[in-house]
Amino acid sequence: MDEFRSGNPAEPKELPGDFMERLDRDIGEAGGELEPDELRKGSIGATMFDLPNSEDGTLVVLLPREHLLKAPSQALLRIKSTDGRTYLGVVAAGPFAEPDSLRGDAPMLVNVQARGGIFLPPYHGRIQVNLLGEERADGKLVPPRFRPLPNSPVFVLDEVESAAVLKAGGDIGLGLAFGYDAIEVGIPSDQKAVLPRHTAILGTTGGGKSTTVSRLIKEAQEAGMAVIVLDVEGEYTHLHEPTEDPNMLLALSERGQQPAGVPAGQMTVYHLVGREPANPKHPNLRAFSLQFARLSPYHVAEILEFTDAQIDRFLYAYDIAKALLRGLGIFPQKDVTPEERARQERLVLELDEFERGYPRLTLSLMLDVVEACLATVKGHDPAPFNELLKTAEGKHLLNTLLHSDKLPKDSRSWGRLYSKLWRLRRLEVFDVSPGKVSPLNYRQLIRAGYVSVFDLSDTGASELSNIAIADLLKGIQEAQDDAYHAWEQGKAEPPTRVLVIIEEAHEFLSAERIDKMPILFEQVARIAKRGRKRWLGLVFITQLPQHLPRQIFGLVNSYILHKITDPQVVSTLERVVPGIEKSLWQRLPGLAPGQAIVSFPHMGRPLLIAVGPTPCKLRMVE
Ligand SMILES: Nc1ncnc2c1ncn2[C@@H]1O[C@H](COP(=O)(O)OP(=O)(O)OP(=O)(O)O)[C@@H](O)[C@H]1O
Ligand SMILES: [Mg+2]
Repeated sequence: MDEFRSGNPAEPKELPGDFMERLDRDIGEAGGELEPDELRKGSIGATMFDLPNSEDGTLVVLLPREHLLKAPSQALLRIKSTDGRTYLGVVAAGPFAEPDSLRGDAPMLVNVQARGGIFLPPYHGRIQVNLLGEERADGKLVPPRFRPLPNSPVFVLDEVESAAVLKAGGDIGLGLAFGYDAIEVGIPSDQKAVLPRHTAILGTTGGGKSTTVSRLIKEAQEAGMAVIVLDVEGEYTHLHEPTEDPNMLLALSERGQQPAGVPAGQMTVYHLVGREPANPKHPNLRAFSLQFARLSPYHVAEILEFTDAQIDRFLYAYDIAKALLRGLGIFPQKDVTPEERARQERLVLELDEFERGYPRLTLSLMLDVVEACLATVKGHDPAPFNELLKTAEGKHLLNTLLHSDKLPKDSRSWGRLYSKLWRLRRLEVFDVSPGKVSPLNYRQLIRAGYVSVFDLSDTGASELSNIAIADLLKGIQEAQDDAYHAWEQGKAEPPTRVLVIIEEAHEFLSAERIDKMPILFEQVARIAKRGRKRWLGLVFITQLPQHLPRQIFGLVNSYILHKITDPQVVSTLERVVPGIEKSLWQRLPGLAPGQAIVSFPHMGRPLLIAVGPTPCKLRMVE
């Protein structure tokens, strides 16, 4: 080799005259130049040998340095195994940079780097890839029986192909898939397997839940769904106005979108009678009252936390009240046609008191009956408030009903029952006389393209919100059932797709109370199950998923997970939410506001997304 060396190392000597010919001859003898492998053209790297700690479903891919940045986290890859099989995978960890021939933590490298990094050895990239499946010739993805062989070329899917694999599109736009320029992620509003199988939106305070929800409301409204929002903080009472939030305005303009509210004519804000509305200026503001007769007596007992002794007495009084209504011809009614009378009799016969109460039974009448029982036990005369019980006929009937040996004794239990019912009465939302405020017309809530916000911000008592929510859910379900029947009989258009959004769901359905409130939970579970058939989707939102009863997760198939920092909550969710890989779970505590991991049945796989800004105004809630 001395012949190549010059005196000055900076000046190489000329090559000897026949060097190139000799080289060509040698190459020719060795079989000619290495043909570029057609199969590897366009690949970014190749699979590595397996190691003793290799696991099924995941493999290591090595990348030459120049391709290091072509395999970002979550990128989709195609692996063309040298045995002819093709696999799809996703970058689950990395890309990591590793020196070619030294360990990254070799003392020499550490030393050099620590002193200013004057020496950078050659390096390559390494990524951890999770296998999504084996790609069959027809494009179908099936669970793999083998794994890619070592040194198989790996390719990055372009956006078009990625979109096809992710299957993440839908007319209700949520945002953009993280790591891609233009893959829109959305929810198909017309697929029965998606929204009617129910959704949970979870995340700590400030994670972006309300922004996501207001987007969802707007987009669902535009998609022609009926949207009902149970808004315990009055946050959504300004949705008809365009957003004024500078962050949102900036984000909207970056996307070329305009701030815009839900059309005011397509939105109503309801608030409980006598309660302060969160937005008194809403153009369609309506007060509503509740009807005691719609409440199941068992549900009332749950909500007011009656003791066993109180339940016995309450149900006893309930039976007296029913007998009064029947005996005095209030229900079933006396002076009606025989057909109507038969209809009302049938209604009473078929009445399921776990579902609802006795028609026309008011809270005020119930209080009178309980007071009368209390008085009788104490040996006093009852002093009813209702005119009905002041008539001779009413007095007589009440007396007959009271004087039975079966009347439970113990005036203290009766007294406690009475005061608990009074607490309900004092809220002044039950059975408000017609004309003043009308009870809800549930059919109006399920109109296509209509948003109904129930402002429950000033109910003052969580019992009251819970009664209102339970009643609303039941009413919506019944209205939707009726719409279905009418359609099935050919009497009406196909029913509207309905979305019911329950904010702060942990307050309504708390794990702590679930044992004490089996009837409420049963009811929600029943609505959830019927909703699947009847196009009624529930959306549960909470910042405290650990307070939701586990059973709720059994009813939910879709998730939008904003930032969650509590490791215990994350690990509980890991157990109940299927299909999200470890690397995505690890990102959950570090998500920025507006980022979310979404998992929906229509999607090829769960995705990290940047939720788009909302064009609607949210009320600031401290
Ligand atoms: N999609 C988004 N794009 C950009 N910024 C967002 C997005 N979502 C939320 N943010 C930012 O995060 C802030 C908090 O969002 P938001 O009120 O929706 O959170 P939240 O989870 O509902 O909080 P809380 O639990 O307090 O109700 C917003 O004011 C906004 O600045
Ligand atoms: Mg919020």
